[in-house]
Amino acid sequence: MMYILAPSLLAADFNILGQQILETQRAGAEYLHIDVMDGIFVPSISFGMPLIKSIRGTSRQFFDVHLMIMNPEKYIKEFVECGADGITFHLEAADCAEKVIEDIHASGAEAGISIKPGTPVEAVYPYLDKIEMVLIMSVEPGFGGQTFMPKSYERIRQLRNYIDERKLPVKIEVDGGVGKKNVREIIDAGANVLVAGSAVFKKRSISDNTSQFMAAFKE
Ligand code: DX5
Ligand code: ZN
Repeated sequence: MMYILAPSLLAADFNILGQQILETQRAGAEYLHIDVMDGIFVPSISFGMPLIKSIRGTSRQFFDVHLMIMNPEKYIKEFVECGADGITFHLEAADCAEKVIEDIHASGAEAGISIKPGTPVEAVYPYLDKIEMVLIMSVEPGFGGQTFMPKSYERIRQLRNYIDERKLPVKIEVDGGVGKKNVREIIDAGANVLVAGSAVFKKRSISDNTSQFMAAFKE
């Protein structure tokens, strides 16, 4: 299996954002995870279209936009125009997931569905033949720097088995509390796209942190 690291911008230093993004790209991170929060679906507010638009000129990475917002359908086209390559919305925030998926595809991006830790994995089954990715939240969405919930391993395994039994080409992304200590277990459970915020941006050098993930993927 191919593994992808998606550094989460939320943990970056916005004074030198462009530089930090390039550092992750040079060290091998193929995705950039971009958390959009509206203060309603989640308690906090992060950033939106203008930021994505300005970093689009800096990075060649796949822009993996994670919408933690209500009414995601309203903003799909605009996010894609700003540079999103993939849009993941929350199943809990969509009135009609089917329609959101259609809109994402019509805009030319890959579609992903995310579920919070309390939402049963089975809830995404009806959409698996229509999407490119499922994002399993391993913390309550809203903030970086939280601790990975161990029950997520079983949720990843359950989804991995279901997807493999049906030979579906759907990626499994995991987000929240991912670090060097649990990367191996998360991969072994069946995830192939790993989001990491604090573990990439908050300690020592971004290049070293990114390279260590790359090395762990090859073990
Ligand atoms: C949380 C966000 C995450 C967050 C992860 O709601 O979706 O992407 O930035 O941060 P860490 O890796 O620090 O848990
Ligand atoms: Zn996220």
